Amino acid sequence: MRRESFETLRRDGDKLILLDQRKLPSTMEYVEARCTEDVYHAIKDMIVRGAPLIGSTAAFGVCFAAKESKSKDEFLSKCDFLSSARPTAVNLMWAIERMKRKALDSNFDQNELLKEAERIKDEDIEANIALSRYGATLLKENSVVLTHCNAGALATSGWGTALGVIKEAYLEKKISHVYADETRPRLQGARLTAFELVDFGIPSTLIPDSAAATLIRDGKIDAVIVGADRIALNGDTANKLGTFPLSVIAKTYRVPMYIAAPVSTIDFNTSDGKGIPIEERAKSEVIDPLDNGMLIAPDEIDVFNPSFDVTPHENITAIITEKGIIWPPFKENIKALKS
Ligand code: MRU
Repeated sequence: MRRESFETLRRDGDKLILLDQRKLPSTMEYVEARCTEDVYHAIKDMIVRGAPLIGSTAAFGVCFAAKESKSKDEFLSKCDFLSSARPTAVNLMWAIERMKRKALDSNFDQNELLKEAERIKDEDIEANIALSRYGATLLKENSVVLTHCNAGALATSGWGTALGVIKEAYLEKKISHVYADETRPRLQGARLTAFELVDFGIPSTLIPDSAAATLIRDGKIDAVIVGADRIALNGDTANKLGTFPLSVIAKTYRVPMYIAAPVSTIDFNTSDGKGIPIEERAKSEVIDPLDNGMLIAPDEIDVFNPSFDVTPHENITAIITEKGIIWPPFKENIKALKS
């Protein structure tokens, strides 16, 4: 299996080295995080992004929190601070809870905590590779697929979820072409997915988000494959804004809509999509998308900028996880994963 030529996060002694995704694709620049506060800002400001990578990064953030704290209460409040960086991706809370348990069980042993964080990172890569193999079985030879946002190596500790499936299927000669939505407003599709597709050598085309409907209606797409930030117990799935309309179009034209995500993205405590908190982000992301002061709308205009939307389970064909492919009825089949 070919692996990517970059690393999204790496520990170097007492520092965390993070690839600054805000600068891609033009610059491959790494930044250092040395304390809880640095990790919080790296997640909030989207130096790192993508649900599984947010989780792995936060796991190392908890190591800093344990080192910096003089009491259990101080440690717990630093963990709460980290959890508040981005509200939708449940991998953030999942990783912090797992690290909190390790901290309390090991009496805040730094070595044990660092080992647990490395384990979370390694398990993420293993899960991605496993789910990619399951996902590839869903595709026929020479499939043309469409994806939204970035659910690749850049969104994870390595390899990727939706893009992991696409890469595995490409290696198995099941994919002839990929369409990538540019993904307004932060352009993760244009900046990150297009970068990964070119890096991997997969024939691909970048499209404005609104071109997806035309391609699907015209029979040009065999499957839509996307990642997830949080999957509720009934299968309702929060993912990057624009996934929900894509699912409506896919359902209308009977194109399968697949969600690829590790089990750590399933929120077993939330029964349906109504319970998923949706992050609203700054107006500047919409009117100044390249963050260079070149406004594309008047500063006086009001802006609504939800970062995610919820795709109802009725619009989802199957959920691809490292434990296998989950088909409807999702509620029963997701519950069965909880062991
Ligand atoms: O705002 P982002 O870039 O963190 O959003 C990322 C997504 O929506 C991804 O599709 C999702 O996190 C899955 S990543 C494997």
